[in-house]
Amino acid sequence: MEASFWHSKWQQQQIGFHQPQINEFLIKYWSQLAIPSAAEVFVPLCGKSLDMCYLAEKGHNVLGCELNQIAVEDFFKENTLPVTQQAQGEHQEYTTDQITLIQGDIFTLSATTTQKIGAFYDRAALIAWPEAMRQQYAKKLAELIPSGVKGLLITLDYDQDTLNGPPFAVSPSWIESYLAETFDVELLECADVLRDNPRFINKQVPWLNEAAYILTKK
Ligand SMILES: C[S@@+](CC[C@H](N)C(=O)[O-])C[C@H]1O[C@@H](n2cnc3c(N)ncnc32)[C@H](O)[C@@H]1O
Repeated sequence: MEASFWHSKWQQQQIGFHQPQINEFLIKYWSQLAIPSAAEVFVPLCGKSLDMCYLAEKGHNVLGCELNQIAVEDFFKENTLPVTQQAQGEHQEYTTDQITLIQGDIFTLSATTTQKIGAFYDRAALIAWPEAMRQQYAKKLAELIPSGVKGLLITLDYDQDTLNGPPFAVSPSWIESYLAETFDVELLECADVLRDNPRFINKQVPWLNEAAYILTKK
């Protein structure tokens, strides 16, 4: 999606992707990655996700990247976190105690910014892109994640013909085709979540799977 699409979604507060609670797969599986609490966790396309607070509560420093200024400022405001802001090239960096959010385009983020991360967490980032851009994002993610670093990836899959994205359907075979070259991929769980998603039920989407994977950068 173009930047203007997301800016308009945040401007109009059409942010159905934002979860008012911590993602259940994150709670269930983060410990399985065995990431030391001292490791910094990169959260691409972070929005104002509360999952970042969960990661910080686990002791991690968090480094998010988010295009939209409203999302970034709301994150700190809504969690009553004091924040300092400074320009870093074409990005703006917002920092509080354990959490730094880089506001700007992930495609212009340099790999030096993420060279010290010890893990990553992608929920609703890979599935935010239509096909061609998703392939570009997969390449960018591989460029930003240092070798040996693990991450938790959470995806949605459904029959794309029944609904326009975002979220876009990402199947296990897509993961195999576009991520397995640069990441070791381990499927942790794939669960039918249709009954918890009225938007999909109303559009008569017949099935909806949420999946969690561990990715390890080769
Ligand atoms: C589907 S939302 C997911 C947000 C978050 N991961 C969550 O779980 O709530 C996708 C987010 O990516 C942001 N985004 C879109 N394009 C981006 C880009 N090129 N660089 C950084 N962030 C981007 C959007 O503004 C939006 O907040």
